[in-house]
Parts: sequence; structure tokens; C-alpha cells
Amino acid sequence: MKQLAFVLLLVTQSSCRSPAKTCQPGCDCRGALKFAVCQGAGLALLPVRAPASTELLDLSHNLISVVPRRGFAGTRKLRVLLLQSNNISRVEDGGFAQLEFLQKLDLSWNRVAALAEGFSLGLASLRELQLSHNRLTSLDARSFLHLDGLQRLNLSDNGVRTVQARSFASMSGLRQLHLQRNRLTSLRSGAFTMLRSLELLDLSGNRLQEMEPAVFSPLASVTLLNLADNRFSTVCFKTLLSVRTHGTHVLLRGNPWNCDCELQRVFRKLRSVQRLFLDDYLNLTCSEPAVLRAHRLTEVDSELCIAETVTVLVITVTVLITVLAAMLMGERKKKRRRKGLHWTQQREFSDDSDF
Ligand SMILES: *[C@@H]1O[C@H](CO)[C@@H](O)[C@H](O)[C@H]1NC(C)=O
Ligand SMILES: *[C@@H]1O[C@H](CO)[C@@H](O)[C@H](O)[C@H]1NC(C)=O
Ligand SMILES: *[C@@H]1O[C@H](CO)[C@@H](O)[C@H](O)[C@H]1NC(C)=O
Repeated sequence: MKQLAFVLLLVTQSSCRSPAKTCQPGCDCRGALKFAVCQGAGLALLPVRAPASTELLDLSHNLISVVPRRGFAGTRKLRVLLLQSNNISRVEDGGFAQLEFLQKLDLSWNRVAALAEGFSLGLASLRELQLSHNRLTSLDARSFLHLDGLQRLNLSDNGVRTVQARSFASMSGLRQLHLQRNRLTSLRSGAFTMLRSLELLDLSGNRLQEMEPAVFSPLASVTLLNLADNRFSTVCFKTLLSVRTHGTHVLLRGNPWNCDCELQRVFRKLRSVQRLFLDDYLNLTCSEPAVLRAHRLTEVDSELCIAETVTVLVITVTVLITVLAAMLMGERKKKRRRKGLHWTQQREFSDDSDF
């Protein structure tokens, strides 16, 4: 009995003591040492001490500014790493390379301005990457090179101006791409190469004005394409038609539409495509021409082509009148010439009769 009590004591003591040894002061390590919560602990540096068995490490709301190489070498079993709301501006090459089981990485609300190739090294299991509210300005083929398994990428609220060709080409399993509230002005073909599993593409709140017609053609699964709150004054039929999904909802409100006859024609064609759903078509408002500003496109829709029809009519009538006039003139001239001939003949005749 005494022995049993002693063993029990030992066990409880050791299970009490070991977290204290391996858990960083300010952190709370629990759940059979699988969770280490160091939220708001005033930490400025990595690595932090956490049990090797830790699967969830919450380092959010600290003062960490650099993710050094091998910063997580002591916690290789991590599945979730929360680093949001720190001061991270630099991730050294291979900063996360030891984390082969990591599934979710939250780096939102930091100061990350560039993603070098070494950033994604070793993150082949990552499913979700949160990078919103950072300072990214451009994306290219190296930015996400090793993220083969990624399904959700949140890049909202950065300063992204350019998305180069093949930027997301390694992520053929990506399902959601959030690029809302960035500074994109145009999209080139190739930007979304390989994103054949993408279901949601959010491009709202950018400064998009133009897109190359083939830019959406790699998207074979997209069900929601959000283009709201950009700077489109017109849209190209081919660009939206190139989405090869059997049902795509497209959002287009909040753009400065130039309501002319051409726009009406494009929308009429788009609305006749059965696999495209223009969910907020009824809410689209005109920005140009000035007389139609703030009017809904649907209100003026039927009149947009009237002016042009009138112009065409006027031109047709003018041409007709000109042609008719020319014909009449020609007739008259012919007549006159015939008359003239008659007259000369008569004169010749009368001259003859003079003899
Ligand atoms: C955040 O990092 C910047 C340098 O990148 C530094 O100047 C600033 O003092 C840091 N802020 C805090 C609160 O640590
Ligand atoms: C993207 O990040 C923002 C800001 O952190 C967040 O509010 C939003 O829920 C995220 N979206 C997704 C789909 O993860
Ligand atoms: C259209 O606008 C109204 C109010 O302005 C809003 O309640 C409604 O949700 C909008 N519909 C769509 C599809 O955006």
C-alpha cells in the first residue's frame, strides 16, 4: 500500500514537474502536453521552449519580429502554429522547414513584405495559410513553391499589385484563394495557372480595370468569382465565358460601369449563358455617362441602345436620300441629254429643210 502511494506520488510529481521544465514561462502547456498556449506573453524571440510533443502552439499577440532558421526545431510535431498579431517582418530561409506535419499556419496581422523560396520549404502538409493584413506587394512563382497540399490561402488586406504568371502553380489542390482588398490593377493570363480545384476566388476590393481574356481559363471548379468593388467600366464577354465550370456565381457590384449600348449587349449575352449566375446584376449601377450616374443598369437597360439605333437610322436614311438623290440627278441628266440630242436632231432636220 505504501509502495503504491509512493509510485502514485512519483507519477503525479513527474507529470507536474515535466511541463514546468519544458514549458516557457508565460506559456500554458496542457492537454497531455499537446497544447502550448503562449498568447500575449510578451515574447520577442524564437525559439520558445515547449514540450516536444506539442501539436498546437499559440504564439499570437506577442512581439516576435523574426522567424529564424530552425526556429521550430524543438517542436517538430506541430500541426497548428498560431503567430498572428506579432511584428514579424522576416522569415529566414527554412524558418518552418522542420514542420513536416504542420497543417495550419497563421501569420496574419504581421509585417511580412516578401516571400522568398525558403519560406515554404518543408511545408508540404500545410492545408491552410493565413497571411492577411501583411505588407506583401508582389507574388511570383517562388512565393508558395513548396505548398503542394495547400487548400486555403488568405492573402486579403495586403498591398499586392502584381501577381506574376505561375504564382500559384504548385498548389493544384487549392480550393480557396482570398485576394480581396489588395492593389491589383490588372490580371495577366497565367496568373491562375494550375488552379483547377479552386472553388472560391475573391478579388473584391482591388483596383482591377482590365483582365486578359484567358486569365480565368484554368479555373475548372470555381463556383464563386467575386469581382465586386473594383474599377471595371466594362467587361469582356470572352473573359467570363472562359471559366469552364458548370455553375459559377459572379459578383460584379461596386464597379463604375460605363452604361453604353456595348455594355448592354455584353450583359445580355452573359445572362444568356446558363452556367453563369450574375447574382447581383440587379444591383449594378452606372457611373458613366454622367446623365446616367447612380442609375441602376436594369433601369436604363432597354434605352441604352435607343440612341445608337436612332443614330444608325439617321445614317441609313441619309445614305438612302443621297443615293436616291444621285439616282434622280442621274435620271434627269440622262433625260436632259436625250432632250438635247432630240433638239440638235431637230435643228439638223430644220437646217436641212432650209435648202
Ligand atoms: C517591430 O519591428 C520593427 C522593425 O521591423 C521595429 O522597428 C519595431 O520597433 C518593432 N515593434 C515592436 C512593438 O516591437
Ligand atoms: C482571412 O483573414 C481575415 C483577417 O484575418 C479573416 O477575417 C477572414 O476570416 C479570413 N478568411 C478566411 C476564409 O480564412
Ligand atoms: C442588392 O442591394 C440591396 C440593398 O442595396 C441588398 O440588400 C442586396 O443584398 C443586394 N443584392 C445582392 C445580390 O448583392
